[in-house]
Amino acid sequence: MSGFKLTYSTMFSPPRELHTRFAKAVDSLAEEFGKRHGLFINGGDVHKEAVTAKSDPADQDRTLGEFSLADETDVDTAVMAARRAYPAWRGTPWQQRVAILKKVAGLVEERLYDIAAAVSFEVGKNRMEALGEVAEVVEFCNLYARQMEENNGYDRVLPDDPLPDFKSHNRSVLKPYGVWAVVAPFNYPFALAGGPVAAALVAGNTVVLKGAVETPWSGQLLAQCIKDAGVPDGVFNYLVGEGATVGDALIRHDGIDGVTFTGSYEVGMHIGRSQWARAFPRPCIAEMGGKNAVIVTAAADLAVAAQGIVRSAFGMSGQKCSALSRIYVDARVADGLIGQLRIAMRNIKIGDPRQEDTWMGPVATAKAYGNFEKYCAALRTQGASILEGGATLRAAGLERGFFCAPTLAEAPLEHPLWAEEMFVPVVMLGRVESPGQAMALANGSKFGLTAGFYGSDAEVEWFFANIEAGVTYANRPQGATTGAWPGYQPFGGWKGSGSTGKALASFHYLPQYMREQSQTHI
Ligand code: ALA
Repeated sequence: MSGFKLTYSTMFSPPRELHTRFAKAVDSLAEEFGKRHGLFINGGDVHKEAVTAKSDPADQDRTLGEFSLADETDVDTAVMAARRAYPAWRGTPWQQRVAILKKVAGLVEERLYDIAAAVSFEVGKNRMEALGEVAEVVEFCNLYARQMEENNGYDRVLPDDPLPDFKSHNRSVLKPYGVWAVVAPFNYPFALAGGPVAAALVAGNTVVLKGAVETPWSGQLLAQCIKDAGVPDGVFNYLVGEGATVGDALIRHDGIDGVTFTGSYEVGMHIGRSQWARAFPRPCIAEMGGKNAVIVTAAADLAVAAQGIVRSAFGMSGQKCSALSRIYVDARVADGLIGQLRIAMRNIKIGDPRQEDTWMGPVATAKAYGNFEKYCAALRTQGASILEGGATLRAAGLERGFFCAPTLAEAPLEHPLWAEEMFVPVVMLGRVESPGQAMALANGSKFGLTAGFYGSDAEVEWFFANIEAGVTYANRPQGATTGAWPGYQPFGGWKGSGSTGKALASFHYLPQYMREQSQTHI
């Protein structure tokens, strides 16, 4: 095919070739359905008796495959394999690790459509979301490889001591920690596994990745790329298991030296605490949830605001940590905004995520489907009311999947759901009297991941100066709070949304996987 590459810009103006290739990948994937998949430990597949039969969230009658489930013994085997592989991997010149990571990037790019088709079946996300997720991993790998090169492997000569009689030579070297545990979430099972794994590996750590039971396939596909790129046995290992058992055994294991976790606030806080409740602290990069807000002032272009809000509240059925869930709108323009939102929401095409024109697929799990019903019920109490949506969808073609109507609710500013991350396609709207009140409400959250603003150009600097969030957007039609792309929008949270304040795909992310040694000799 032509030299077309999936990039940030082609994501927004996809050529026909993208659709042809995706449809072809979907067709060939059907041959894979129902197969058995193992764990990946020490360079080989490990098949277990305990398996999970993974089905398609858009059609519960379609089984995608049977995936082995790890137990605590497998955690130990994987960590020990990673420990044994560590000295040789650490000792591998960084230039060689960079070359291998670039090979991983090349293989992910070569298999982009096949992997994206699997991701779409596994999570229920539409083709552009699935392709974007896989393309992000190509970007992460190339970005971290380039950063190693630009920083000479983070090895830097410092000035000699200014003492004529004791002329020491000085150097600063960043070195890996050892074995790194990566715990990936269900909503971005490929990108939020691939990003941290790429950083940990190129820095010289060996890795044990744990994927979510709800999304076991993506990690398998990542493992194949890593193996085929020539990463030595034991350097990368992949387990699937429940967080409360397998995840907990992994993050408590004495044989690991650092953790990256992406998932809920509660689990992230638990993991963070556990890394310090030891003889010495271990680094913990925790990317947690969000309760992301947008501020709409009286000066906003309401059509643009509605477009950005709908994309961010309902893209991937609201299951992004970056998803928009709180709208604080100036009371004077609230009715106008609601009118624009209703129009935009009624245009959302819901259905099989593999169809070209589908914009919103199902939610990924039975649990989210139940949560959606629970939250809709709660948004009919305590003064709140549902303005649009508010029900699961059972129409022909949707009845075997976890489909939910995009939902807009208006709520008094003291409703308890303003404080709870829902992770379903529901957005709440509250009327405010001033931009200052909106800012106080937006910041009055334990979270601080993403935030959006629609208003006049003169207000934009005020927004950036005052908002407490790691990823911020102003007057953006293509997403009020979502849609960060590696290399353009570094992605990381403040407060209860992230433990280190260093964003994925920024200049500051990769060094977190290394510790500094200052070297002085006469
Ligand atoms: N990268 C995703 C976004 O920005 C999470 O929405």
